Amino acid sequence: MSWVKENCVSFFQLFCIKVVKSGRIPQHIAFIMDGNRRFAKKNSVKTSVGHHKGFDKLSETLKWCLDLGVPEVTVYAFSIENFKRSDEEVSALMDLARDKFKRLLDEIDLINEWGVRLHIAGRLSLLPDDLRSLVSQAMLATKHNNILQLNIAYAYTGRDEISRAASHIIDGVQNNELTADDIDENLVSQTLDLGEAELLVRTSGEVRLSDFMLWQVSRTVLYFSDVLWPEFTIWNLLAAIIHFQRHAPPLLPEIENSRSKQEFLDKLENKRWKNLQSLVSY
Ligand code: FPP
Ligand code: MG
Repeated sequence: MSWVKENCVSFFQLFCIKVVKSGRIPQHIAFIMDGNRRFAKKNSVKTSVGHHKGFDKLSETLKWCLDLGVPEVTVYAFSIENFKRSDEEVSALMDLARDKFKRLLDEIDLINEWGVRLHIAGRLSLLPDDLRSLVSQAMLATKHNNILQLNIAYAYTGRDEISRAASHIIDGVQNNELTADDIDENLVSQTLDLGEAELLVRTSGEVRLSDFMLWQVSRTVLYFSDVLWPEFTIWNLLAAIIHFQRHAPPLLPEIENSRSKQEFLDKLENKRWKNLQSLVSY
């Protein structure tokens, strides 16, 4: 299945989307897509089939988010902890990712038409070389899209992300790009891979954060659903958004960066893109 599933919204569902859109729409939704293996067990199919169904659900969810006008979506696709699963499951998940990123590059015109910009957040050095090259190509190929940013947390944990941000900031101080006075919450937030989410949805009845976006959820509305991720429906998503509309905190004013902070962040961004370009040549 492609990254964005077409023709998956009925006329009635479109009408309901319009109604929900008359209220506040979260500008960034994060999903912990949990329950693929329980889905596989329940349906007597292999675990890898559960993960494939999980990807299909992601592509449907992206279409719903596009229709709802959600500009940023983050999904937890592979945690650093997931490397501890059986070799068979880890390689099936890596193969699935290879397959989907290859497909994305083959269908690049389609993804560009949807305006989806891909960002892989995580410790890329933990990935096999060929997969690292594929995800780098996918990020570079979709860099200019601006309708929906899809962040895929892969080889990711929130604690690892915070540690990497701390080490970037230390480098900035050691290179005289930053002073100790520049270090504040706002700088840390902008040095992380991922921005704050307004709504976080976890499926499968689990009510933990499992080391996902730990820094970014300080003001996030949390929504826990009992359905297994491959069984998630548009009605579950609309219920999550209505929950958000009832509980959303007021918006905060944007804080402008000092010149030194902005220069540090611009340099970091440039370094990240250069690093990606070097990974493509594998
Ligand atoms: C959690 O369910 C799901 C995962 C660890 C993998 C999620 C991956 C996908 C949905 C595919 C995404 C692929 C790409 C390329 C973005 P679980 O395995 O923990 O299931 P369980 O909770 O029932 O044991
Ligand atoms: Mg699980």
